Amino acid sequence: MIIKGGTPLKGRIEVRGAKNLATKAMVATLLGKTPSVLRNVPNISDVRVVAGLLALHGVLITKGEDADEWHFDPSNVEVAHKADIDAHAGSSRIPILFCGPLLHRLGEAFIPDLGGCRIGDRPIDFHLDALREFGAVVEKLPSGISLTAPNGLKGANIELPYPSVGATEQVLLTAVLAEGQTELRNAAIEPEIIDLICILQKMGAIISMEPNRVILIEGVDELRGYDHKAIFDRNEAASWAAAALATKGDIFVGGVRQEEMMTFLNAYRKVGGDFDVHDDGIRFWHPGGDLKPVTIETDVHPGFMTDWQQPLVVALTQANGTSTIHETVYENRFGFTDALNTMGANIVVHPNGLSEAGRRVKRREFEQAAVITGPTPLTAADVVVPDLRGGFSHLIAAMIAEGESKVSNIGIIARGYENFIEKLRLLGADFVFEA
Ligand code: EPZ
Repeated sequence: MIIKGGTPLKGRIEVRGAKNLATKAMVATLLGKTPSVLRNVPNISDVRVVAGLLALHGVLITKGEDADEWHFDPSNVEVAHKADIDAHAGSSRIPILFCGPLLHRLGEAFIPDLGGCRIGDRPIDFHLDALREFGAVVEKLPSGISLTAPNGLKGANIELPYPSVGATEQVLLTAVLAEGQTELRNAAIEPEIIDLICILQKMGAIISMEPNRVILIEGVDELRGYDHKAIFDRNEAASWAAAALATKGDIFVGGVRQEEMMTFLNAYRKVGGDFDVHDDGIRFWHPGGDLKPVTIETDVHPGFMTDWQQPLVVALTQANGTSTIHETVYENRFGFTDALNTMGANIVVHPNGLSEAGRRVKRREFEQAAVITGPTPLTAADVVVPDLRGGFSHLIAAMIAEGESKVSNIGIIARGYENFIEKLRLLGADFVFEA
């Protein structure tokens, strides 16, 4: 994309179902005896990768009358050829969630090497340890992971070392059909996980949320299909909100709810952005005047999401003073700031974190901090998108930079932002796109 900066983004766009729910809801269809219907499905490449993997395993996928309504018929689930599965290697992280459902349906599973954004090591030890607790036998192969369950899957007592989103989903998708009760402690409780629990409950599962991050799951003998509208994408919403702030624009983001955005909205207000909550979405805008610096620590829900920091950092380059972002979820999520510095930003990344006074207790061994001093005018540059959220932040930076920027490798952004080129056009962005 060749982007000419300087145009405030203004208008209305809609966000669709969350990437980080829809893809998991699709995996859950494997657990049902009868077909499922998922509505509000985003048109993003991660959804297409998961659809491809489901189809390989015999799930019949058709579209409903509306393009965002997908039907999944799991009547003929079958073992897929390893070579065909391998073709999906490196394309997404969702395949790891196929373990439990495939073990229940077929007694075996082969999971290709995972993909996803390079924002840290992203190990899967919590997933594999939990699966072993259920009785799965895990074999690591050069090209992926092979799993069997010679004695079936049985409920387990599991305590996660960290409230991992993926590992919590792994346990849920496995425990619902495992024999007996599962107690999961230190579970993640992100809104997308609650939405997945709602889906599983519709399917016939018995899952209760207990205080203090404990989830109890009573295994049942069988589950049916579901009909569900996916929760909106909080990350997409925050990205457009940040774009409105950075470009001094005014964007009505349709489909967004306040409740799941509360933490983000507080930060938005502290930085100097304004918003109005409506029944059908939230209007975000720059009310004029200086933006203010903030200190933010990313965290698990209900904290400030790690996926929200990248787009907001671009707006912080325009704030009057020094902001600090402590990244506590991933160990390497500031790579995108190199390109912002090339464009004129003043961002110093501290790879081992900062322990300033006033800081909450350091939670993990690895932490990074970025110190952003503004305001710095940005100038156009040629940038190569490194990952999904970082890539969107580069788009925003180019939208405010003086001159024409060339942003390449934007295919990555399509993994998680539905029709973003069309949405940018609707908002009046000045760019040329060469496919
Ligand atoms: C999900 O990743 C999301 N991805 C991420 O969104 C999101 O940033 C993250 O949750 C946190 O909210 C999807 O839902 C597809 P985690 P996930 O397991 O499940 C460590 C985006 O841009 N960990 O909660 O992979 C891990 O390395 C993406 O949309 C282990 O050590 O995240 C990380 O430091 C990026 N061992 C931390 O836990 C494990 O076995 C949190 O990861 C699993 C995780």
